[in-house]
Amino acid sequence: MWSNKLQCFECQRGFSANEPGFRCKTCGGLLEVKFDLARKKEPPWNNRQLSVWKYRELLPVEKEESIVSLAEGGTGLHRCKRLGRKLGLKKLYVKNEGENPTGSFKDRGMTVAMSKAREIGNKKVLCASTGNTAASLAAYAAKTGMECIVLIPKGKVAGGKMLQVIMHGAKLIQVKGDFDQALEMAMELADRRREFYLMNSINPFRLEGQKTLAFEILDQLGRKVPEVVMLPVGNGGNISAAWKGFSEFQQLKIVKSRPRMIGIQAEKAAPIARAVKSRQNKIRPIHNPQTIATAIRIGSPVNWPKVLSAIKQSSGTAETVTDHQILEAQKELATLEGIFVEPASAASIAGLKKLAEEGQVDPSETIVCVTTGHGLKDPSVLERLPKSQTGYNLEITGASSLEALERLL
Ligand code: F0G
Repeated sequence: MWSNKLQCFECQRGFSANEPGFRCKTCGGLLEVKFDLARKKEPPWNNRQLSVWKYRELLPVEKEESIVSLAEGGTGLHRCKRLGRKLGLKKLYVKNEGENPTGSFKDRGMTVAMSKAREIGNKKVLCASTGNTAASLAAYAAKTGMECIVLIPKGKVAGGKMLQVIMHGAKLIQVKGDFDQALEMAMELADRRREFYLMNSINPFRLEGQKTLAFEILDQLGRKVPEVVMLPVGNGGNISAAWKGFSEFQQLKIVKSRPRMIGIQAEKAAPIARAVKSRQNKIRPIHNPQTIATAIRIGSPVNWPKVLSAIKQSSGTAETVTDHQILEAQKELATLEGIFVEPASAASIAGLKKLAEEGQVDPSETIVCVTTGHGLKDPSVLERLPKSQTGYNLEITGASSLEALERLL
């Protein structure tokens, strides 16, 4: 691990990694890990296998024996020729984060934050979640042997994720309210009861793991910088982390430029996209956000200052998509490319479709869409599919003749 410190994103005050709480004690700003990259040479990364820990010099965990891993990262960067052709795009890639051990990108952050938690001696971990953070935390807590508490918005979390949390033995508490309220409660609890270590994306160590998404994209493209990277945005941790990753490779002079970062939100849960489109430098929280993409059903994203800064610095943008567009994109990606993602992840594809149709992306640009979670996490989509697509209408009884079967084909 290279030398690093915790620093306030707003006022730059420094903090010790062992101090509890993830807000600046002076101004209340978000914290981030700052590595000293001056005069640093690239480590022998080319000799290591693609994974989160390939980049361990840039991860804030001191001792090898602290590491808790389920083999995260090393996900596929898929060239999508069939979907690209349909959208009129020549170089379209999907970085499929559903290939992580618990089926979402959260594992990148969790392996690092959990290792850090262990290193600084925590025994109990806590998060609020729309499902994937909870599933990932529960798995890593199980692996580490830590007590795990998760708060989820009641009735608003996909079935697969609930099953994961329960299966891994975490304590699952359903909050009557939405994610924003559950996170508020988790943050207050972590302040009041210091034995509970908060693992939401306000925890800067988690974002360090998630930044390896950017390192991997660059390595998989042979260090050629894509022009555009698109991600679904909920609490805003992932897009900020990816931007930090691209920036660090640039500081290390591994690459010369950085991509435009484009964040996609669901139409009725889009505080970031609204702020970007109306050129505001603050967000206005959305009360009672709604979308079928429950993973990003978030009205008051804690990481908004980092997101707005990443989008602005990168000359990127943010866009909204409807639930209908999300479901359509989910189906298209699955049928054209063999990649099955959950609705929130399909938002990045739906957003790209919208921008391509509006001529806002250049067909010759290299575009990477990040799909954040596996499709199997949310089987409720089955009920939303038009009957003609499900195959349910193709019915024969065991006694029917082979001719009846052939007529259906
Ligand atoms: N996609 C999926 C599948 C997610 O689960 C999330 C966030 C996001 C995108 C958005 O990422 O919050 O970093 O902007 N899920 C969180 C959770 C909130 O609790 O699982 P973000």
